[in-house]
Amino acid sequence: MEPGFWHDKWDAKHLGFHLGEVNALLIKYWPELALGRDSSGCDINVFVPLCGKSLDMCYLAEQGHNVLGCELSQKAVEQFFSENNLPHQIEPSDPINKFTTEQVTILQGDLFTLAPEQFTEINAFYDRAALIAWPESMRLAYVDKISALIPPKSVGLLITLDYPQEALKGPPFAVSNDWVMANMSATFEIDLLSCDDALMDNQRFVNKDVPWLTESVYKLVRKGQGARTLRS
Ligand SMILES: C[S@@+](CC[C@H](N)C(=O)[O-])C[C@H]1O[C@@H](n2cnc3c(N)ncnc32)[C@H](O)[C@@H]1O
Repeated sequence: MEPGFWHDKWDAKHLGFHLGEVNALLIKYWPELALGRDSSGCDINVFVPLCGKSLDMCYLAEQGHNVLGCELSQKAVEQFFSENNLPHQIEPSDPINKFTTEQVTILQGDLFTLAPEQFTEINAFYDRAALIAWPESMRLAYVDKISALIPPKSVGLLITLDYPQEALKGPPFAVSNDWVMANMSATFEIDLLSCDDALMDNQRFVNKDVPWLTESVYKLVRKGQGARTLRS
């Protein structure tokens, strides 16, 4: 969606996507990535694109990781730090403002203005409600951008929803397993960890008579080549 759409959501406090707790699938599947500090003592630095004010960043920090979020809305970022009582520093800059606390840094601005040079330390990533936030017409541009930012060998979790798109206007948009495999396997090794019925947990979908809804969790590993040369 265009930036104005999301600024309006944050202004109007229409935040149906925001969970008041850590995502249960993150808690269940993150340990499967086995991303402890490695034997060389290397830190795990997790990129969280389109992070909102997600408490999942707190969970990742509690695992001992460093977190690098990116979020368009300044309101979202300010609320993340204030609601979690996190003292922080702000480095204002154009086009990206940097908000930092001990283990969490959020780059506030448009993801598409970020450069790979800012991501050289990243070795893990987490995408919940980010890929599925884009309509199909913008989704490939997002995949290309995160593929360009995430260094080779980085390991991450991707959580998607799928449902008959004609039954509901997104976001979230339906992303099928076929779409993920067809459009992300050039840049990521993809392992489907789970795909479960999620209709009863999503009242909005029930209210709109959406006939079925599944939620999938993928383990992704960034392959060794740059996305821009793979899909030019
Ligand atoms: C559906 S929400 C998901 C937030 C978070 N991942 C979560 O699980 O709560 C999508 C978020 O992406 C942000 N966003 C949208 N477009 C963006 C862009 N171009 N760059 C950075 N953030 C963006 C929105 O402001 C919104 O907070």
